Amino acid sequence: MLNSISGLVFLWEQSYSSFYGRLLEFFFCNMDLRIIILQISYIIIFAKMLAFGFISQDERKCKYLKVDRLLKIKCFDMNLREVPQFLSTSVEVLDLAFNRIKKLKRHSFERYGKIKYLLLYENMIQSVEPDTFAHLSSLQEIDLSNNALLTIPLEIFQLPSLRNLYVDSNDLINLNSDLKKLDKPIQAPLEYLNVAECGLQDLPDMGIVPNLWQINASSNPLKEITTETFATMCHLKSIDLLKTQMPNCACHQIVEYVNLRKIKNSFLPICKTPGAELDECPPLYNITVGLPEFEQCNQATLNAAARSTWLTIAGCLCGAFLVLLTVLYCINRRKRRKEKKKEKKRFINPTSNANPQDELLCDNA
Ligand SMILES: *[C@@H]1O[C@H](CO)[C@@H](O)[C@H](O)[C@H]1NC(C)=O
Ligand SMILES: *[C@@H]1O[C@H](CO)[C@@H](O)[C@H](O)[C@H]1NC(C)=O
Repeated sequence: MLNSISGLVFLWEQSYSSFYGRLLEFFFCNMDLRIIILQISYIIIFAKMLAFGFISQDERKCKYLKVDRLLKIKCFDMNLREVPQFLSTSVEVLDLAFNRIKKLKRHSFERYGKIKYLLLYENMIQSVEPDTFAHLSSLQEIDLSNNALLTIPLEIFQLPSLRNLYVDSNDLINLNSDLKKLDKPIQAPLEYLNVAECGLQDLPDMGIVPNLWQINASSNPLKEITTETFATMCHLKSIDLLKTQMPNCACHQIVEYVNLRKIKNSFLPICKTPGAELDECPPLYNITVGLPEFEQCNQATLNAAARSTWLTIAGCLCGAFLVLLTVLYCINRRKRRKEKKKEKKRFINPTSNANPQDELLCDNA
């Protein structure tokens, strides 16, 4: 009995060990290959994760378009929390609207120096580090509307090409006290400004802005508005003052002023019928037009016009001078080439060009 059991155990052990051994053998012999295959597949999976998961999240979804010969990159509504850093550096129109960006950092647009139009509306931007925009010398339009800004970064007003500025729907309650630190006159050739729905008590004082022709200040309390602010905007053509709570006197003054300056009046509030307080509410048109700021604003335009005329004249003169130089150079070169040709001929066939007297002398000899 014992014998038979030990025999069975021996048999089982033998068969088990041989099976196990074969399994191990199979496994070990093929291990190198398996590990290599495994590693390769890990590498592929990792690379794919890198490519689609982290590195080019923005590249994958941002759309590259050509709009009016400008390279536009659209990263619209992508849940972005930062400005993507892997886009083409030639981008001219960058659309980052409807994202979740909270902060703009100094390096955010460092790579994108050619941006002309920057759309950042409907984000959560609260703060902007100094020098975020300062190097964007081609920037013509920036839209920061519907964010959580408490002020307009002052460097924006010094951008040399900036024409259109949208900052509507931000909390700019203390804007005018911040603007006291602004270097005036501003460098930006600002033409359009939207400060609607910003909690403003008065229009922003940016110093003289001779190019500004349209301002949207609707849906602001504007309780401290005075016509004097308009003196710095000598070329204003259109203003939106709807849904403001101007005092009745200011309302009458401004409506009169706007009409006299022939500014578009279709977006003006309807003032309450004049009450007794209007007796002490003088029309301010002549006062404002007589202010030194108005004069300076007009002068700035004249100076700019004169400068551009002088630049044109200088350009024409330079052009003419260059043409003259080129013509002279060409004439000189042709002359020299002719001379060289003559010399060559003489060298190849000396007799043909030889002095006829020589021939005579020869004949005589
Ligand atoms: C002024 O801005 C507000 C808010 O952005 C807009 O609804 C309104 O149409 C603008 N007014 C004009 C005249 O464009
Ligand atoms: C402004 O002043 C001129 C004369 O200096 C006068 O003729 C004109 O009526 C005044 N305009 C207003 C709106 O007071």
